[in-house]
Amino acid sequence: MSQTKTKLLRKDAPIGVFDSGVGGLTVAREIMRQIPNEKIVYFGDTARVPYGSKSKETVTRFSEQIVRFLHTFQVKTIVVACNTASAYALDQLEHDIDIPIIGVLKPGAKAAMEATENGRIGVIATEATIGSGMYNKYIKEWNRDVTIYGKACPLFVPLIEEGLWEDPVTDEIARRYLTELIDIDIDTLILGCTHYPLIRSTLGRIAGDQVTLVNPAYETAIELREMLADMDLLNDEEPGLGSNRYQFYVSDKAEKFVRFANSIIKYGILSAKTVNIEDY
Ligand code: DGL
Repeated sequence: MSQTKTKLLRKDAPIGVFDSGVGGLTVAREIMRQIPNEKIVYFGDTARVPYGSKSKETVTRFSEQIVRFLHTFQVKTIVVACNTASAYALDQLEHDIDIPIIGVLKPGAKAAMEATENGRIGVIATEATIGSGMYNKYIKEWNRDVTIYGKACPLFVPLIEEGLWEDPVTDEIARRYLTELIDIDIDTLILGCTHYPLIRSTLGRIAGDQVTLVNPAYETAIELREMLADMDLLNDEEPGLGSNRYQFYVSDKAEKFVRFANSIIKYGILSAKTVNIEDY
């Protein structure tokens, strides 16, 4: 990112945030909490979710379309809230665009590396994120002495979207997924999928007190604030009423998205607009 390019960006421009669907709202929620003056344009690719079982090529093509869509709002930065898209597409997106862009993997990986004491870190995520080995790659770049154990947990996303956050079924599945990580004595667990912070208490109970849970959504909001501050791009003023502070777009019908959004974000999301993302 050259200085010339950053000079063209406006402090009061929105931040673009995207995900394969509703999960990235856990990241948007952290941004709303931690940097409340910022405007957000959120895109959830509800027509093409899940990304976690798709190929790198497909996820990259989808992500490029979404970035072109977000560009139409003159966003000052883009947050790839989806772990799968961050794992598969971030490198390509960094090439494609001339504004700062961050994913959720690096902040999560950094926090885990700082948290571990015994050098054994577990990562739970989609099949794609685990298969990409990107959490592993980032952590190893900083510290080669750490061992990372990945576990794909494909049943969590549908369970969470069904609202079964505190449920015996989710407990049982979590126990099955986590047992092997607990048995190899991890002391840190990265919640490497947008949805998992929503079952944090279940995961914490099953993993036990000796395991530190790392929430990449939270870590990403911290990193975003620091990046905007360094670039002198934090919005100094609180956006006024009627300023479209938070805008939501989806690629399929909006009702289910709005219902889910209102269950996790307490800012009264009244609507989301549907766009044909294939046009971008
Ligand atoms: N948002 C995805 C992620 O964080 C999970 C849902 C999906 O598979 O698309 O990896």
